[in-house]
Amino acid sequence: MTSVVEQYLARIESGCLPLDAGAVADYIPELASVDATTFAVSLVVHDGHVYSVGDSTLEFTIQSISKALTYALALRDRGVEVVDAHIGVEPSGEAFNEISVDHRTRRPRNPMINAGAITATALLIRPDKDGQQPTTREEWAPVLDTAFASILEFYSGCAGRQLSMDRAVYASEMATGSRNRAIAYMLQSFGVFPSHPQAAVDLYVRQCSVRVTSDDLAVIGSTFANGGVNPRTGRRMVDGQIARRVLSVMTTCGMYDGAGDWVTTVGLPAKSGVGGGILAVLPGQLGIGVFSPRLDEHGNSVRGVRACRLLSEDLGLHMFTVARESRVTIRSVYDGRELDPAATERSVRDATFLRAHRERIRVLELQGDLTFSGVESVVRRVEALQNRTDVFLIDLSRVGVVDDVSRRLLVALLRTRRDGAAGWVVVDPDGVLSGHGAPPRAPDSTPGGDDVAVTSSSAEAVEIAETMLLGRAERSG
Ligand code: DON
Repeated sequence: MTSVVEQYLARIESGCLPLDAGAVADYIPELASVDATTFAVSLVVHDGHVYSVGDSTLEFTIQSISKALTYALALRDRGVEVVDAHIGVEPSGEAFNEISVDHRTRRPRNPMINAGAITATALLIRPDKDGQQPTTREEWAPVLDTAFASILEFYSGCAGRQLSMDRAVYASEMATGSRNRAIAYMLQSFGVFPSHPQAAVDLYVRQCSVRVTSDDLAVIGSTFANGGVNPRTGRRMVDGQIARRVLSVMTTCGMYDGAGDWVTTVGLPAKSGVGGGILAVLPGQLGIGVFSPRLDEHGNSVRGVRACRLLSEDLGLHMFTVARESRVTIRSVYDGRELDPAATERSVRDATFLRAHRERIRVLELQGDLTFSGVESVVRRVEALQNRTDVFLIDLSRVGVVDDVSRRLLVALLRTRRDGAAGWVVVDPDGVLSGHGAPPRAPDSTPGGDDVAVTSSSAEAVEIAETMLLGRAERSG
């Protein structure tokens, strides 16, 4: 039985199939021979589960979508400084094959237009150990084969399966790609091109000819959504900072002269190719792959653009959709009168005191993943309640992941040592506060009005909070 998500994708498919505008790319003659009626949408969610409809296992050439991947590989293997010295990150607002360089630096404006992409590819061609470049075609062949093997290995790692090159498409573009050769020679004439123009174009055309399916594109997208780790294989392909940078450049430059319209309406970092594919990413959540060969005037798949638009609108995927995160971090706030008293034996005097003053214990139950905006609201809430509270009981048992900044903020909050500051009891069964999933350390309390205890048990937390409240009353006489 198809899942409700697949039924939903099927509705998107029927919304896109009637579209027959646009034309298959034919400036690379071999591309003109594809079946123009094909269509596929794939979605890969955070744990690597794949949903798809249509021709989702049909292979087509990756074309310009390769630019995002090779840029990531160049950043990983050559480092940000070297890459930045050769390629900018500014949108050009021009077509993909425009000869577009920054007038001052003479660098290609970004890695998503051909000039920048060919430069990124050139950065992956390594001279031999003496720094010598080959001079003959025979000498170049093994150097290019080695560089392409590492490109293919990287693409395959991101897709989670072994990919291969379409030789016919490669030969067809090599026979007709004068413009790309012109771009590479022009860059060389500026004195900033890192390899031989012919070699770089050859390698670039190979990478553009790698065969993928819409499922592959969605897995690749999910790898970037997941901070550089392929969620299906668990393999880290790039670090989180590189993933973030690639997504940033895809956002501003990935859809060429249609980038502004794309960000406004679809709102997802994306990259298209003239093979008919589009890869889109919702950071932290999912990867999308769509495929349909007929293209609009920008070189983007007509049905692919429609499918992304429908997905974004109907599933609320626009990356600037305002999250309710900060409001939902605090699940509830109440005082100690709503807690069942601890089962501990207490003296009559203590029990009477606790009955009269339980409201001085304040419980904050937090939930979900904690990020800055959510924890900031916790900090403010705590500060507002400070005067009416002797002991805060913070319950983290419904919290998932805590990012670094949230952890630092929470720890700083617990360590606040102001006169008369409240004591703290933290319920943290999964060790999210330590950040290592480690079991919490044994409860401890430091005399002097600044008690902090961490425990894995809610019942024990109540007992500690009561004891803290009694201790504080004792000390203040
Ligand atoms: O360089 C070219 O012209 C092709 N190999 C790739 C162009 C492309 O996919 C542009 N994207 N929409």
